[in-house]
Amino acid sequence: MRRLVIPVLVLLPLAASCSRSADDGGGQAAAKDPVARRAELEKSPTGVEFVELGCAGCHGVDAPYHLRLKQSLGRPLPEVVQWILDPQAERPGTEMPSYKGTIDEARARRLAEWVQEYARTISAAPAS
Ligand code: HEC
Repeated sequence: MRRLVIPVLVLLPLAASCSRSADDGGGQAAAKDPVARRAELEKSPTGVEFVELGCAGCHGVDAPYHLRLKQSLGRPLPEVVQWILDPQAERPGTEMPSYKGTIDEARARRLAEWVQEYARTISAAPAS
């Protein structure tokens, strides 16, 4: 019985993530291209906030910490929210400034969701 249960447990999430990424394309050929997806994301309202808050200065395509955003992949959302609000609490001395006094939790949450989506496009396409 055990032998059957394990492959099913492994395959179920795989099947779920496949259908999810198929949905992401939204049927548009351009949206499947990671570079096009990234450009699309950057035009979203939260993408604009990412630029306006200065995040892009460190994490934008040509910025020094672009790839670091990938560290947020696979982390639970609340942890990413806390990181954005107060990175020093998790990693004292990190260069990333605290946004606690600048943005509220709801905004940090929106950014965290956006960053995780954005980070997926980074892993798919190296910055040019
Ligand atoms: C002055 C540069 C700088 C700015 C501005 C900055 N960051 Fe960062 N950020 C960093 C650095 C450096 C790291 C990597 C931290 C480490 O590994 O020590 C990081 C890491 C991250 C991570 C990954 C955290 C993890 O390990 O899970 C996220 C998510 C993130 N930043 C989001 C943002 C957002 C959103 C903003 C704007 C609100 C922002 N950053 C602004 C420098 C910056």
